[in-house]
Amino acid sequence: MDEAKRFNDIRQVTYRNRLNIGFFRDKTNWENAPAFLDKNRLIINNHPVMEDWEDNYMKALAEVACSKRGVVMEVGFGMGISAEYIQSHKIREHIVIEANKSVFEKLQDFKMNSIKPVRPIFGFWQDVTKNIPDNSLSGILFDTYPMSKKEIHSNHYEFFPEAFRLLKPSGVFTYYSDEIRNFSHEHRNKLELAGFKKIDKRICQVNPPKECRYWKSNTIVIPIIIK
Ligand SMILES: C[S@@+](CC[C@H](N)C(=O)[O-])C[C@H]1O[C@@H](n2cnc3c(N)ncnc32)[C@H](O)[C@@H]1O
Repeated sequence: MDEAKRFNDIRQVTYRNRLNIGFFRDKTNWENAPAFLDKNRLIINNHPVMEDWEDNYMKALAEVACSKRGVVMEVGFGMGISAEYIQSHKIREHIVIEANKSVFEKLQDFKMNSIKPVRPIFGFWQDVTKNIPDNSLSGILFDTYPMSKKEIHSNHYEFFPEAFRLLKPSGVFTYYSDEIRNFSHEHRNKLELAGFKKIDKRICQVNPPKECRYWKSNTIVIPIIIK
């Protein structure tokens, strides 16, 4: 099967699954929804938000986000997997933004036990990153979740201009890419429109279980985007 077809099939499956689970119109519903968390997964409003097979992918994203040291911002705490990896790097400060109250409580516990200083911020990035100055971050790791039908497969796109604003020149941006081996034309275009010119990637080998409802490939792209 050629890559474009496989990519499309994966997207269709994820799209259908997420639509079938359904979205709430009001974002406060996500804020207040109970989070089901065990060592393998995080479920919010019946959505499979995060699973532990992503561990080595999160490790790789953290490595990229911390490669310039300094202040590193993470958007979406989830199971705290990437956050743990970020803490193992030589960074000055770790900002973490999280929009779900139950997950935010876990983030506060994480702060208490962390080695590097953690600054937890509660809210949707759309409401809170405006308080962070331009050109102030060395690295960003973005991994959120779609809040509506419109955001399925594109929740990262809206953040691209904000990532460009927040990063220092030569700062690095990485994120859950939703891509198997290459950036789609649309994806690359969104990065360029946001101002990014140095667009690179590595491929991560992953092993999602058959029953995973959002990823059906053995590879996923690690974006390495430099301002
Ligand atoms: C996929 S998980 C993050 C997984 C994390 N990287 C890890 O390693 O465990 C997504 C998280 O982003 C949060 N989230 C979703 N949309 C958000 C937004 N717009 N702003 C901030 N957090 C958001 C969710 O509540 C969830 O905890």
